[in-house]
Amino acid sequence: VSRIAFAALAASLAATPALAADGETLFNTQCKMCHGGSVMGPKLEGVAGAKIAARPDFNYSPGLKAKADGTWTDANLDAFLKAPTTFAPGTRMMISVQPDDNRKAIIGYLKTLK
Ligand code: HEC
Repeated sequence: VSRIAFAALAASLAATPALAADGETLFNTQCKMCHGGSVMGPKLEGVAGAKIAARPDFNYSPGLKAKADGTWTDANLDAFLKAPTTFAPGTRMMISVQPDDNRKAIIGYLKTLK
């Protein structure tokens, strides 16, 4: 009995990262309500690789504007999504994304938004 249970457990563990790594689903459930054309957050089309806080059509917080010299590299996106108020003290975006795999998947998806 234990061998079958172990096989089932191993199969379900193997399936978990694939589910967790669906960046589009994560984006749609955790980001889109503010970033999908609502006035709450800036649009994110083209954000990967762009200058931080650079959209003329959004009124950024002083906290994020203080980082405007920088670029949204993978490392900066990861740091921001992991701990927004640590990356940019005073930012109005409070939500963070855990675990690491989910951030990686979301960043991968952001790169597809043109
Ligand atoms: C509750 C609303 C809200 C949610 C949910 C949200 N954000 Fe934000 N986001 C904001 C706001 C507001 C800003 C602007 C922050 C500022 O000006 O300090 C922002 C800024 C950003 C920026 C910087 C954009 C730029 O032009 O420099 C990125 C990247 C970003 N969010 C990614 C995400 C991702 C990815 C998710 C989902 C995991 C997410 N956000 C979820 C409200 C939200």
